[in-house]
Amino acid sequence: METLIPIINRLQEVFLTVGAEIIQLPQIVVVGSQSSGKSSVLESLVGCDFLPRGSGIVTRRPLVLQLVNVPPLEEQVMLLNSFFCLQGIKAEEWGTFLHRKNQTLTLGGISPEPIHLKIYSPNVLNLTLVDLPGITKVPVGDQPEDIETQVQEMILSFISNPNSLILCVSPANSDLATSDALKLAREVDPDGRRTLLVVSKLDLMDAGTDALEVLLGRVIPVRLGIIGVVNRSQHDLNTQKTVADACRDEQAFLQRHYPSLASRCGSRYLARTLSRLLMHHIRDCLPELKTRVTVLSAQYQARLSSYGEPVEDHSATLLQIVTKFATDYCNTIEGTARHIQTSELCGGARICY
Ligand code: GDP
Ligand code: MG
Ligand code: NA
Repeated sequence: METLIPIINRLQEVFLTVGAEIIQLPQIVVVGSQSSGKSSVLESLVGCDFLPRGSGIVTRRPLVLQLVNVPPLEEQVMLLNSFFCLQGIKAEEWGTFLHRKNQTLTLGGISPEPIHLKIYSPNVLNLTLVDLPGITKVPVGDQPEDIETQVQEMILSFISNPNSLILCVSPANSDLATSDALKLAREVDPDGRRTLLVVSKLDLMDAGTDALEVLLGRVIPVRLGIIGVVNRSQHDLNTQKTVADACRDEQAFLQRHYPSLASRCGSRYLARTLSRLLMHHIRDCLPELKTRVTVLSAQYQARLSSYGEPVEDHSATLLQIVTKFATDYCNTIEGTARHIQTSELCGGARICY
């Protein structure tokens, strides 16, 4: 993803200059059954562990993770970082929770109201990732009877957005044909133009079985691709294995068990694939940007010519331009002045809208 950052930053500058809408990258939405590895996949994509886990909070409400690219600001960040005490986030990265203060979390049910987490870092793309509650079949504990429908509706509301890239996560040790994530994705994206399949838990398959057929797309073909990954196990998490170490071990595992596919699997390849898809999206946005720049350029040219024909004496032209500019400026001031009322009470000028 790092290679995209400078490109996006340059483009944002152009967009700001021409006053166009900032480029809207697709949001990446992760869908899968409970404990399929959704949060783990997101963490490996962002490259650090920060997602609240284990507690019901994330599984019951969507987590909208907004990555914000910022220039490194060493001191400010160190301060904020120690303030938020977020583990695993480097010195120049920090995060904030933006959910409403007065909101109480009802533990039994689920809520479509998302929790917002912003991560500021020089190492991330301006990108939105959405971690959704896992698809459940059977209500447990105090969960409502219609939990399955509630979760499905919530997921559909996120993935039906045409600007969502759907990342279906399905564990290698369960039958792909029964993947509810893929079924839901098919409903909103029948042509598979924005659905990618991630097969997690390659390391947890029964002895004597492998995911080769699945990864080759022979069980269910997925147009944008099928990528096998090995995330950190619960033991890895308990022993605080870093994302970097996990990534290295994952590569070794893939080389050993899937040598022919190793270069097209793994978390790093997944990140590269997403980058490529985002790049395609940006490329698709460029013609519109170009049109806009051309139109603006023509407008400015026309305005420039209205300031007078170029003549030999440059000082005269400059004077004309300054006079024209001053006239325009005065007209604007006059316009504004009509909206300014003198407030006797305050004894000063007050702007009224
Ligand atoms: P989520 O409920 O879909 O968000 O799943 P999590 O990412 O929280 O993972 C659920 C559990 O499965 C955690 O204990 C993870 O450590 C474990 N896990 C996830 N992916 C893998 C994997 O590829 N291999 C192994 N061994 N464990 C995994
Ligand atoms: Mg999760
Ligand atoms: Na699934």
